[in-house]
Amino acid sequence: MALDNLRAFLDAIDARGGLVRVERPVSLDKEMTEIADRCMKSPGGGPALLFRHPTLPSGGAARHPVAVNLFGSERRMALALGVERLDDVGERLAALLNVKVPDSLLGKLAMLPQLAEIAKYPPKTIGGQPPCQETVIRERDVDLSQLPVPVCWPEDGGPYITLPGVITRDPRTGVRNVGMYRIQVIGKSELAMHWQRHKVGAAHWRDMAERGERMPVAIALGGDPTSIYAASAPLPPTIDEFLFAGFLRREPVRLAKAVTSDLEVPAEAELVLEGYIDPREELVLEGPFGDHTGFYSLADYYPKVHVTAVTMRQDPVWPHTIVGRPPMEDYWLGHATERIFLPLLKITLPEIVDLHMPAEGIFHNLVFVSIDKQYPGQAYKVMNGLWGQGLMSLAKVIVVLDKDVNVRDPKEAWWVALNHIDPERDVRFSMGPIDVLDHSSRGFTFGSKMGIDATRKWKEEGFTREWPSRIVMDLETKRRVDEMWKELGIEL
Ligand SMILES: Cc1cc2nc3c(=O)[nH]c(=O)nc-3n(C[C@H](O)[C@H](O)[C@H](O)COP(=O)(O)O)c2cc1C
Repeated sequence: MALDNLRAFLDAIDARGGLVRVERPVSLDKEMTEIADRCMKSPGGGPALLFRHPTLPSGGAARHPVAVNLFGSERRMALALGVERLDDVGERLAALLNVKVPDSLLGKLAMLPQLAEIAKYPPKTIGGQPPCQETVIRERDVDLSQLPVPVCWPEDGGPYITLPGVITRDPRTGVRNVGMYRIQVIGKSELAMHWQRHKVGAAHWRDMAERGERMPVAIALGGDPTSIYAASAPLPPTIDEFLFAGFLRREPVRLAKAVTSDLEVPAEAELVLEGYIDPREELVLEGPFGDHTGFYSLADYYPKVHVTAVTMRQDPVWPHTIVGRPPMEDYWLGHATERIFLPLLKITLPEIVDLHMPAEGIFHNLVFVSIDKQYPGQAYKVMNGLWGQGLMSLAKVIVVLDKDVNVRDPKEAWWVALNHIDPERDVRFSMGPIDVLDHSSRGFTFGSKMGIDATRKWKEEGFTREWPSRIVMDLETKRRVDEMWKELGIEL
């Protein structure tokens, strides 16, 4: 049975012993971050936390509890998606997409809505009063300072909504997008929307601005866990994340009409902030914000959202995450994407054996990839192929290794790579788009990339010396030592 909402997810985590309810009052002003950070840095990602009595930065008690780190372990991420192993999802998706045309990954993904298995679970709009609209606060009565929105880090520009599903619609095709973009609270009913230029919400906004039309936006907090995850997944613009979530949970996502716009919102959400962006209005300063790079992203200009309604359950739980120096909860959301999308990458780059983005590489800084090398130059084919696929285009450093290297273990990957390279021969630089959060590139979102061919070199690649083998003890000696181990008096 799929989990229908955030509270069902919390119960499921609790039933497995993974939830800590914090009864002591804790301030939304940084204290929650310090507590959650210590948990997220502990082995395995730490427990999920439900802060039952948060206090507002202004000092009073907040009305609603705050949940943090729900997705923050491999086990909870799999629980959210209703699978035993995250790789199961990718394999299910790849089996569906193993079709002959079109050839590119994005092209194949774009076909998703036409596939029967996917079309079985389209989102369903329900009538009557949905749970997310049990309470409705409109227009002048909206006061965002009453919501439990945390201030994460000392130099942050203000309180931040960090785990939302931002719902917009493509004005040309009508296709919905749901994206996870952080949002700063900048006034009683005003927000700053940090969608980066490579993201789908930002593309919708540029289209609306060109038309000079007001853009409706809905911000969902909570809902079923697959929908929350789907908002963070790099799906092509032609795919509605609620359709993808339906595929993941094997049940449709239930939607309801928003009360102040013609968008649909998840019926099972805890809260929804409805509003609009007026593209004729000046952009507003957003940030700084302690980001998932482990550094502050600098303040910059982003669109302002006017909130026209806050709708909620009678007893909503506010979902929150913190980002900062890795590893953090977002590593697990990104890790799910890595495992789900790997089989899809293999459809177009079949020599790929495995791929891993270690936490310290914050996704876009470092990609290890192992390949079944069959011909000279194949490592370069793979790095160029990856730089041509969706958000993989933002990868700053790609290290290609042979198939016998376990790239899921960064220590092993670096050990082999550093042994195998002649830097001048094996390192190549290229140019391309760079992640908005990169503070080092020569231009904003534009800069260089490094590809490292750490595979064994072939004669045809100009390497004429002998390539040594790895040191591995023979099995017979290992067996003899196993047998004598207890007699040695060595405790390890
Ligand atoms: C916790 C978290 C916070 C994120 N914050 C942002 C953000 O502020 N801006 C942004 O553009 N992407 C952010 N992302 C990444 C996007 O969610 C991700 O790129 C997603 O694919 C965007 O959806 P889209 O492809 O529909 O635009 C965040 C991801 C996570 C997990």
